[in-house]
Parts: sequence; structure tokens; C-alpha cells
Amino acid sequence: MTHFFSNVAKAPSDPILGLTASFLKDPREKKVNLSVGIYKTEQGKTPVLSCVKEAEKFFLEQEETKSYLPIEGDSLYLKEIAALIFGRKLYGELSSHITLVQSLGGAGALRLGGEFIAQELKGSTCYISDPTWPNHEAIFTQSGLSVKKYPYYDFKQKKVDFDAMYQFLSSLPSKSLIVLHASCHNPSGADLSRDQWSQIADLCLSKELIPFFDAAYLGFDVSFEEDAYPLQLFAHKGVEFLASISFSKNFSLYAERVGAFILFSKGNESDAILSQLKKLVRRNYSNPPLHGAKLIGKILQTPSLKLKWEEELAEMRHRINSLKSLLIASFAAGGTQTDYSYLSDKKGLFSFCNLSKSQVERLMQEFGIYMTADGRMNIAGLNTSNIEYVVKSIASVGG
Ligand SMILES: Cc1ncc(COP(=O)(O)O)c(C=O)c1O
Repeated sequence: MTHFFSNVAKAPSDPILGLTASFLKDPREKKVNLSVGIYKTEQGKTPVLSCVKEAEKFFLEQEETKSYLPIEGDSLYLKEIAALIFGRKLYGELSSHITLVQSLGGAGALRLGGEFIAQELKGSTCYISDPTWPNHEAIFTQSGLSVKKYPYYDFKQKKVDFDAMYQFLSSLPSKSLIVLHASCHNPSGADLSRDQWSQIADLCLSKELIPFFDAAYLGFDVSFEEDAYPLQLFAHKGVEFLASISFSKNFSLYAERVGAFILFSKGNESDAILSQLKKLVRRNYSNPPLHGAKLIGKILQTPSLKLKWEEELAEMRHRINSLKSLLIASFAAGGTQTDYSYLSDKKGLFSFCNLSKSQVERLMQEFGIYMTADGRMNIAGLNTSNIEYVVKSIASVGG
């Protein structure tokens, strides 16, 4: 009997999700998971938002069908999220240039956009920031694109090296695809200023580069609308772009896999673009899931639920910011060698904590503290009962 699959090689475990699997298996009572990018409360829970619960109650009673959604997704959801991202006025002016497709979370939108570029702009190379979310390289390579890196974060200065980034991007051939984190850069937490965004927008216009925004953390810096500023600015300036929007974190709907792919183009081609995107979706997962999109559509359409969502999002944001302040103060008092005050201007869930690979390994082996090999910490994994332990452990490994 032939063994068809006996030569299948074992793939390495995922650099982020694999760590959580190891964390769960770790029998130690004192252990801390600072690896995966999910929000957690003081009690270590990733809650269902109460606006979501209310919308779910509504559908439990009122929903009449679970029939397929159209290939491009739920129309109410798509309209509501576009108005949220661009603002009703700008969306009203530009809607004929904005192609929207519901996606399987942010990752699904990145994949769809990657496949679209590989199909439509043959020879385009994809540039991702150095460093970036590890899945970027994998997703864009799997989409059929050749992937390279552009300089972004200066580990010595602990901030964006804007000059190096700008110079590098200036030298790229036209039609290069540039992946930009819209807000709360993962893994560094270091974002561009509004003036720098404006310079990058002008550069994209003059050098004919195509930005692809990865917007997975809208609402984790200032507010959802403010954090979507780069997309509004680029649309306003007439820079054609792609965007992946994730609602995993800001609606705490991780497992519902709800997101959107957006393509902003200047001509009259949006019907043709949509038809090609639908073709790519149909050949892949056929059509998107219903539940998350229905919930978000309902919440955004209902003023009281929208207000509740904004309050719950603000609560998540405030908790992360107060944890960050507490962490900086604890580091200052905790005998670490590094001056961790650089964390104060970092945005969102993540920051580097200035540790080498071997120090990260020691934290895991000796103290049960898990973070990604590059020393990225998810601040939301901290709480008032584990912060001292984390700071002391980091000091013990020489951080
Ligand atoms: C930078 C970045 N992009 C995209 C994603 C994917 O988000 P989703 O879970 O919605 O697919 C993540 C998730 O962690 C992320 O950190």
C-alpha cells in the first residue's frame, strides 16, 4: 500500500501562536504570556464587549436566515465601516472610487490584496517594514509576490528611522507595493507623525508607489477615526492605495474573522476591480461569514450601541496606556540597566523591551515569561499582580 504522505516535512510552529501553545502546556503556576497580540483585562480575560452581546441578543430574536452573503460581503456592514473609516463626508465624495470587500479578518484582506496585485501588476515587488508582523512575509510570498524589506525602526535610537525609510522608498521602481502600518506599528509601537505621513503620501505620488495599509489596531492609539488618518489623508491627496482593516482587536471579535479589504483608485474602474476581487474570493473561500459583519453593521447603525462600543474601545486603550505608565515607573524603580522611558511614546499593544534572543529565551526557561524572540512585549498581558514579577525577571536577565 502506497503511503502518499510519508514525505511530508514537519513545518516549524508559528512564531507567535506556537508560543501560546507552549505557554498553555507550561505546568508552572507563575507564568506570564506577553506574546500573542490580544487584549486582556486585569483578570487576564479577553472579554466579549457588551455592545456585541446586545447586538447578539437582537439577532438571536430577529434573525430570519443564515443564507449565504454576497461574495463581496454584507452591504450594510460595508457601507457603515467605510463611513467610519473615511468619515461620512469624505466617503460621500469618494465612494465611487472606493472598492470594498468583506474579508476573513485583517489577514484575509492582506492575502486578497496580495493576490490581486500579483495578478494585476505582474512584476510588482512587495516591501514590508523591517521589522514587521512575521506573518506579512509569509502572506505576501504565498500570494505570489516577491517580498523585500525597507528600513523602519532604529533599535539603537528606539524610534522610527524616517530618513532611512524615506531615502530607501525614494529609490524604488514605480509600481512597488509598500506595506505600511496605519497605526500602532507591530512590533515596535513606533508610528509616523502626521507630517511624515504627508511626506510619504507625496513620495507615493511622485514615485508611483502603491501603499498597502495594514490597519489592525485602529482605535488603540487615539480613537478609531483619528487612527484611520493616514487612509483619509492619502485618499484626500489622491494617492491610490490598498488597505486591510481588521475588527479582531477593536471589536474584540477575534474568532469571528471579520475585516475588510479596501482599494482606493482614481479612475472609473471600481466595477472591474470588484469583479476581479470577487473572482479571487469565489475561488478561495467562496463567500464570507455572516455573524461578525452583522454585529458590526448593527452596532455602527445604532447610535446607543455605537456609543457603547466607543466607550468600551476607550476603556481598552486607557488600560493599555495606564499599564505602560506603570511599567515605565516599575522599570525605573526596579534596578534594570535599560532606561525604559522610551516606551512612553510607543502606541498600542506592543513595544520592544530591549532584550536579546538569549535573554528572551532565559525569561521563558527560568521565569515562565513568554514573548516573541525579537523581545516584543504585549503590554496588555501585564496586570497589577504580575508587573513586579516581570520587571524583576527582566532585571535578572540583564535588561
Ligand atoms: C499587524 C497585523 N496585521 C494583521 C493582523 C491580522 O489580524 P486578524 O486577526 O484580523 O486577521 C494582525 C494580528 O495580530 C496584526 O498584528
